[in-house]
Amino acid sequence: MAAARSASPFNLADVEAYRRWRDARLSGYPRATADLIVPVNDPRALTPAEHEKLLALVRKTNMVIYAARVGDDPDKEIPRGMARQFGLERINHNWLADEDAVTSITVNPEGDHPNFIPYTNRPIKWHTDGYYNTGADQIRAMVLHCVHPAAEGGENALLDHEVAYILLRDEDPELIRALMQPDIMTIPARVDEEGVARDTSTGPVFSIDERTGSLHMRYTARKRNIVWKDDSASRAAVQRLEALLDSDLPYIFRGRLEAGMGLLCNNVLHDRGGFSDAPDKPKRLLYRARYFDRIRGS
Ligand SMILES: [Fe+2]
Repeated sequence: MAAARSASPFNLADVEAYRRWRDARLSGYPRATADLIVPVNDPRALTPAEHEKLLALVRKTNMVIYAARVGDDPDKEIPRGMARQFGLERINHNWLADEDAVTSITVNPEGDHPNFIPYTNRPIKWHTDGYYNTGADQIRAMVLHCVHPAAEGGENALLDHEVAYILLRDEDPELIRALMQPDIMTIPARVDEEGVARDTSTGPVFSIDERTGSLHMRYTARKRNIVWKDDSASRAAVQRLEALLDSDLPYIFRGRLEAGMGLLCNNVLHDRGGFSDAPDKPKRLLYRARYFDRIRGS
């Protein structure tokens, strides 16, 4: 989406460009999680046909789920190799990531940060990854690869952030105007749920990537340690977005990653259900790699 700025569908003044883009976006949009799943043999070495199918879905929905024939192989090159084939190179060295910058998401009561939600079995509300980042440090894409699913639970819900934008803008463009305010969302300075001490971070929910013209979203549905701009337009917009995510939209995909499956996406909205491990089964283990790049060709 390298539209010239003047013809950007995200320009609120250009209703025609928006309509054209919106209609194309929603036409033939997948309606079932199964439509998002592409079987592949080895994510580390995709065939041209596999690559093409994966990219076609990412172009349509900003996400794709691959189902690879790698079983519970714990090789971290699986998510990294997959990502590399889509131009994802600039990986985020999250300080809790392992040395290779791939984060192992698993319940680890003995770890350094047993209470940070990602490393517990608790549910995680709707969010985009790295919502507390501002400026150039936006997480634009990620891979989430499942080595072992939980004995029970651990499903994800997924929503293309461009569809969230469309639904809000169709309801009232003022909702979008509010969510694009550069001071609508503030994460106070603190040690966050991932253990990272950071400065106060203030920024918009929706923004346009200057370089690619693509839509970016920062959001979390969490209630603590977040301050929304306190005026009626901002409150209304945040409430509408919240209600959208709480609803039974046909655009929300729900499912669970099983061993060998993974999500490749342009940091779409997602949540995680709570889960439980069983003593006689391997613990739930997912690998997460986050990138400052957007998926090439999407
Ligand atoms: Fe996440």
